[in-house]
Amino acid sequence: MLLLDGKIASQSVKESLIIETKELIAKGKRKPHLAAVLIGNNGASETYVASKVKFCGEIGFTSTLVRFENNIAEKELLAKIEELNTDDKIDGILVQLPLPKHISEANVINSINPDKDVDGFHPVSVGRLVQGLDTFIPATPYGIMLLLEHFQLTTKGKHAVVIGRSNIVGRPMSILLSSNIPYGNCTVTICHSHTPDLKEITLQADIIIAALGRPEFVKGDMVKEGAIVIDVGITRVDDASAAKGYRIKGDVDFKEVSKVAGAASPVPGGVGLMTIAGLMKNTLAAYNRRNP
Ligand code: GUN
Repeated sequence: MLLLDGKIASQSVKESLIIETKELIAKGKRKPHLAAVLIGNNGASETYVASKVKFCGEIGFTSTLVRFENNIAEKELLAKIEELNTDDKIDGILVQLPLPKHISEANVINSINPDKDVDGFHPVSVGRLVQGLDTFIPATPYGIMLLLEHFQLTTKGKHAVVIGRSNIVGRPMSILLSSNIPYGNCTVTICHSHTPDLKEITLQADIIIAALGRPEFVKGDMVKEGAIVIDVGITRVDDASAAKGYRIKGDVDFKEVSKVAGAASPVPGGVGLMTIAGLMKNTLAAYNRRNP
């Protein structure tokens, strides 16, 4: 079985980003600048945002971390986003999700300038994706496309089954895989919590994208011999024997699935690293569009 190693693939994206950033600096241009907004102290969100900020530093980007307490008023958050929208030195803005319950996710996403929407969540970005126009592809689906590209996997004419229909992963992933683009051109089935006989469908898949957020949901007997299995899950599962008191589990039972799959991505060390690579490629694209 081919291990779809996100460390190797993300390192390759990282190296190309370092080169492109050095070229900008050599031309006397400023560095691309990402602003990350983090609200509250959700442990997983803190880890993700810290990884994004760290990656920025490693590739030569500037980053600004804006932090707010959990009880921040929506109005105050929107005012900060407006300030970032109009700041000429900021190229990309991301607001880490999930948000506290009293803040409307839609209002926040809609308030981001689409030219700086490096998460690709704004309706303008989503509409452009659906129409096959140049856009910001949400970072996780983008990272999965980069993973498929790195390992030169054939997708054309294949049956891809996407489990999960979230705006962040499942839905944009289904659009990309069905689009007439490199590493697209699949026949796509989207499955979700109301899909009966899921196993019957996954057994027909040449490619499975597991993005439902249920630890080790995809078992070996749900996978066709030789299929490509991409695991998007990252759930913290309590485990007293682990140093941090929890372990990160994917949506795929890797031990079982690796015995039948032709290729599979591990968790950790798979899609998570590619997500950050996708975000940084979007940030550089936003910079280049704004500074032609
Ligand atoms: N929460 C989980 N995934 C993401 C992501 O890709 N971007 C943001 N902003 N929040 C997330």
